[in-house]
Amino acid sequence: MTVAQVIDGVALSKQLRQQISDRVSQLKQQGITPGLAVLLVGDNAASQVYVRNKIKACEDTGFKSVLEQYPATLTEAELLQRVQALNQDLSIHGILVQLPLPEHIDGQKVIEAISPAKDVDGFHVASAGALMVGQPGFWPCTPYGCMKMLESIGYALRGKHAVVIGRSNIVGKPMALMLLQQHATVTICHSATADLGHMTRQADVLIAAVGKQNLVTADMVKPGAVVIDVGMNRNAEGKLCGDVDYEGVKHVAGWITPVPGGVGPMTITMLLMNTLEAAEHELPHA
Ligand code: GUN
Repeated sequence: MTVAQVIDGVALSKQLRQQISDRVSQLKQQGITPGLAVLLVGDNAASQVYVRNKIKACEDTGFKSVLEQYPATLTEAELLQRVQALNQDLSIHGILVQLPLPEHIDGQKVIEAISPAKDVDGFHVASAGALMVGQPGFWPCTPYGCMKMLESIGYALRGKHAVVIGRSNIVGKPMALMLLQQHATVTICHSATADLGHMTRQADVLIAAVGKQNLVTADMVKPGAVVIDVGMNRNAEGKLCGDVDYEGVKHVAGWITPVPGGVGPMTITMLLMNTLEAAEHELPHA
């Protein structure tokens, strides 16, 4: 039985983080230390893990990082004030407000308060609009990481059919736009899609970004397809798993990303890349 080739997000991240680290050293020689501020509100357990990983990645790569942790009782006005102060802070090049925020805070309003020049998550409407019309701007880290994974295997998207399952602002929608920019024919599927398997079986590239364990099974995959699993779920035993039934799908797909060790580390790597580029914009000729 054939087995798909694995796209190793840990190995690719290691390679890219080395390149990032080299560019950070060069920037430092010119008197600029790239700085990321991470704002975490409340005590969401998953968010705490994500944020810790982001801060650690900054430390490992030579960035300055600032973690601001606030209780769930922080008001929206207080959070907006912090964002505005960080917009003015010359030592900070990227601002990340970890989502989800507590219910009493309007997350989109907070994101819109971040200066687009520091929007390293790529969630601001200005960043989303820039991606939409193909102008320079920060790309959301998770779909950006998926594009890097496709690039790493030398995959030519032109004329290929890419099917994205999921339509979130953070992954599904920007993912579709990035694939389109590379001349793929793109289909976006979601919870109201009538016959998901019918759509996915036509995919040369299949991206699963829903958050539902075993959503994609072997019978839904075209032989030889590239399958990228963005899911981050906990199974009944508490083990991290994606949206794809890896053990089944690996015998049909040509390429597959594992969970853990696939898209997850790439998301953080692209956050570092965006923050580095935000800092490089300070250079006279950047
Ligand atoms: N919550 C889940 N993923 C993300 C992310 O990429 N960025 C932020 N800010 N919050 C998240």
